[in-house]
Amino acid sequence: MAVVVEKNLVQRVRGFVEVENLSVSFKRKGHCVQVLDSVNFKITPGEFVCLLGPSGCGKSTILNAIAGFIQPTSGFVFVNKRHVDAPSADRGFVFQQYSLLPWKTTFENVEFGLKIKGTPKAERTELVDYYLNLVGLSKHRHSYPHQLSGGMQQRASIIRALVNSPSVLLMDEPFAALDAQTRHMMQELLLSIWSDLKTTVIFVTHDIEEALFLSDRIFVMGVNPGRIKQQIDVTLARPRHVDSMLSLDSIALNRQVFELIREETLKSMEAD
Ligand SMILES: Nc1ncnc2c1ncn2[C@@H]1O[C@H](COP(=O)(O)OP(=O)(O)O)[C@@H](O)[C@H]1O
Ligand SMILES: [Mg+2]
Repeated sequence: MAVVVEKNLVQRVRGFVEVENLSVSFKRKGHCVQVLDSVNFKITPGEFVCLLGPSGCGKSTILNAIAGFIQPTSGFVFVNKRHVDAPSADRGFVFQQYSLLPWKTTFENVEFGLKIKGTPKAERTELVDYYLNLVGLSKHRHSYPHQLSGGMQQRASIIRALVNSPSVLLMDEPFAALDAQTRHMMQELLLSIWSDLKTTVIFVTHDIEEALFLSDRIFVMGVNPGRIKQQIDVTLARPRHVDSMLSLDSIALNRQVFELIREETLKSMEAD
């Protein structure tokens, strides 16, 4: 049965994200450790940005502050000029894994946020059906998470966030646990969804190729304390395909980013 796609139900919201002098410290063994030092950036509506850096540099901490999961020690986060001080479905979050509710079906997991918001049942069903179809999960609507492959679970996690029409989609290494082939298919699927919805996306990864393939801009992070070391404009033409990554421009960018990351990885290893 063909799913009737009611596109007018799908709202396109594009968030403007501003991070101002964001610093975060955590207590560790009685000491105060500064994890982020005065991070500043602006992300324009509809932009796809990757935060790239070695493990422990503070990527997740930035994302968690934008989500409102943690409070900055100092500084501010604004989304569409509104100060962020708590989580909201307006900032959709996709975690690395295991984030679907195991006792709910795919349909119920995707529907959950809309139910909480009080969206009427007919509208809920139409929206969830639209998104399930978009990522090829219609046949699995009644399956439980343990019956789905890792790739399917992540597709469900992405649309569970998107169904709430977030201003910004925050993704924390969402494909890191998938095998290489599935990961590449997920990257292509994400780009095709984004080129249609043009939601603002902030995507955390430690994989240079993934960042180059996906983003308009890469924020390369430095360590100890975490900060934005350099912003790289990824000028590769869209739509991007596997072959885009073999172009001379892409190889030159890869080399440039590799050198930046290498320095930081060495620094973080010395600090261990
Ligand atoms: N809640 C916390 N309490 C104490 N230390 C934390 C907490 N969250 C993160 N950290 C520390 O902050 C640093 C950055 O963490 P994180 O943002 O997760 O890095 P990344 O995502 O880049 O790997 C790490 O050294 C980590 O151990
Ligand atoms: Mg992390």
